Amino acid sequence: MTKILKSNTVGIKEAAEILRCGGLVAFPTETVYGLGANGLSETAVKLIFKAKNRPDNNPLILHVSSLEMASEVAYEIPVIGKKLLEKFWPGPLTLVVKKSDKVPVNVSAGGKTVALRMPDHPIALSLIKEAGFPIAAPSANISGKPSPIEAGDVLSDLDGKIDAVIDGGKCRVGLESTVVDVTQNKVKILRHGAISLEQLAELLDYKPEIDTDKSLIDLHEIKYAPKCSIKLFTLDNAPFIGVKDGIVALSFSPPPSIFSIKLSSLEEYAAKLYSILREADKKNIKILYMEKPSNSGIGAAILDRLQKAESR
Ligand code: TXA
Ligand code: MG
Repeated sequence: MTKILKSNTVGIKEAAEILRCGGLVAFPTETVYGLGANGLSETAVKLIFKAKNRPDNNPLILHVSSLEMASEVAYEIPVIGKKLLEKFWPGPLTLVVKKSDKVPVNVSAGGKTVALRMPDHPIALSLIKEAGFPIAAPSANISGKPSPIEAGDVLSDLDGKIDAVIDGGKCRVGLESTVVDVTQNKVKILRHGAISLEQLAELLDYKPEIDTDKSLIDLHEIKYAPKCSIKLFTLDNAPFIGVKDGIVALSFSPPPSIFSIKLSSLEEYAAKLYSILREADKKNIKILYMEKPSNSGIGAAILDRLQKAESR
């Protein structure tokens, strides 16, 4: 049985104790729920891969609560990385830097780098502080499923496979962090996420490179795979009209179907995306028609997830 812990001091203390003993605890962050283990323990980290059924060539993010903690697991944080973290930490930006000897081999999947993030969530930060070590945490879903944005999502994937989950309600952002490589002292986006290309460009005074080769992240990135199929539509191309076996799930246009959620912003789209995918699977819906978001701001991250799900 997986224990549900309250998001208060007692819950956090108990969660930290489980982590110190080498166990697994899922916890809320501002993006999605993470599945945490002691990030300095190879044995504990091994359990994450097993619980999620995650391929061991896919490295993990270490979550830190201070710059000091980040410095211990980084061989170095380049000037450009410092500039980014001063602006965006705590927050949904993950920096890939050269790793120090302290990082277990399975966290970095045998590579020379480590991904670091300071989450902008009081529970996550208190848990890391209380534990006293960086917490390795991928999204707390079975590999290939949409990331969990509330404790119930975590339990529907991992109940009985992990020691506990801290119930901290819904995640504010609803999509994963942006992952950038700064090892070459320039910024390269490996995964679109909650911090947009435009936000990065504004700080840097240049447009960061996007990993086009994708060899790295594509190898790791499991396709977002709800059971239903997804079709993207734009206003001048509305295939759902008259279609009976699908529903329009998320739309900026007036709802053209019985079941739909009318959106007013890209942020709302991001926050609702994964719960709609999970909901559709529960209801055995075959086709979801989703309005194509614009490719700007957090829209790029939404589009990235939708296109992966659509192209399966
Ligand atoms: O918002 C988030 O990032 C959430 C919360 C829990 O922090 N975590 C998350 O972790 O989404 P995960 O493991 O589901 O996705 C992390 C991504 C993966 O695509 C992984 O391949 C990539 O980051 N990654 C991790 N370490 C890396 C490294 N050293 N080099 C390149 N990519 C790395
Ligand atoms: Mg994930």
